[in-house]
Amino acid sequence: MQHYFEKARTLDQADKLARFRKAFANQAHLIYLDGNSLGQMPLATKDLMNQLVAEQWGKRLIRGWNEHWMELPARLAAKIAQLVGAQKDEIFVGDSTSLNLYKLAFAVLSAQKGRTKIVSDDLNFPTDLYVLQGLIQQQFQQHRLELIQSQDGISIGEEQIEQLLDEETALLTLSHVAFKSAFMHDMKNVNQIAHEKGALVIWDLSHAAGAVDLALNATNADMAVGCTYKYINGGPGASAFLYVRKDLQARLINPVASWFGHNRPFDFDLRFQEADDIRKFGLGTPNILSMAAMEPGLDLLLDAGMSALRQKSEQLSAFMLEMVQKELVPLGFSIASPIQIAQRGSHLSIQYPEAYRINRAMIEPNDGSKTIIPDFRPPDNIRMGFAPLYNRFEEMAETVQRIKTIIQTNEFERFGKEKLTVT
Ligand SMILES: Cc1ncc(COP(=O)(O)O)c(C=O)c1O
Repeated sequence: MQHYFEKARTLDQADKLARFRKAFANQAHLIYLDGNSLGQMPLATKDLMNQLVAEQWGKRLIRGWNEHWMELPARLAAKIAQLVGAQKDEIFVGDSTSLNLYKLAFAVLSAQKGRTKIVSDDLNFPTDLYVLQGLIQQQFQQHRLELIQSQDGISIGEEQIEQLLDEETALLTLSHVAFKSAFMHDMKNVNQIAHEKGALVIWDLSHAAGAVDLALNATNADMAVGCTYKYINGGPGASAFLYVRKDLQARLINPVASWFGHNRPFDFDLRFQEADDIRKFGLGTPNILSMAAMEPGLDLLLDAGMSALRQKSEQLSAFMLEMVQKELVPLGFSIASPIQIAQRGSHLSIQYPEAYRINRAMIEPNDGSKTIIPDFRPPDNIRMGFAPLYNRFEEMAETVQRIKTIIQTNEFERFGKEKLTVT
């Protein structure tokens, strides 16, 4: 392993984004590889939240709406737009990813009259499929959901997508980066394939926003949803966002009419009049406290720039993959992510029968070694997320070294096989 530690030091010295690490509450003795699940807290967030609670809420009370809060969602939308390659009036910030997907899928199925097929893939995140199943059960009983089956559990071929789409297809919805394997669809190609068949596409960007260089406008993306608690570092349960391309907005109806989707909510008009812009996808009062917490993370990403971030993410990921192939595959691990970096988001999944207990041993060492936090996804995946704002190359080498030790000493046997609630 020694030469890997040397290589890591060289890479860390050359790292142009190294200065961003200081912006986070990194804890000594901790290697955090779970930024793909819950990002680290930017230090600025703590000060911002203290100030917001004590001053804006505590002292300004209701006046806070006019002074600060009414303009917050649109300001955040403009920043997210920059991050994902869209226009500021194409992004709505609020609600959860699941709810935003529900709103958009409902809108598409209503707009695409005569088309009754919904297509997704079996690498998609479960909540996305639940939302679609629920829509069919409760509202669109004539529709059916067809799932493209991954051949290897890791990736999906574009020809498979092409085969399943036809003139009956209303909607294609996919995770841009798959939550388990990190497989990344080619957004431009897939949009084109779908559009040729007249289908509209909703992308789930939860594992992509802030992790890969997105170009929603340039790839002619129709719609998207995504969360902000992963690579955007917005905090647990932070508000999600949705994107609708400008020319589609008039065609799509929010299934939940509410006052924040009204053109002039503070007229208190008793008849609903839908907002004539992206605000129409609003749903009730924005959750200001959690929304505000998202801004420092967004500012850091925009300051670093998505192309530099993706470049470092690719380097971290390639370095980890190289070590896994050389050091862990001989011990019985297999790689559960695409080998091609262009097809991989910003995490890497590795498989081993004892993955769950190894993951526990990494998180709860008893030999004084560093706490390392990746995560576990059933049945046997350890996911390691690379957050280029704060991860260092040396941490990658330390992680592989630690996994080797756990295997060689059978340290994982300290743990039972019963799973914790959140893994
Ligand atoms: C791809 C993807 N979509 C959706 C979600 C969950 O969405 P939410 O809890 O914001 O509704 C997750 C959570 O990890 C996810 O990874």
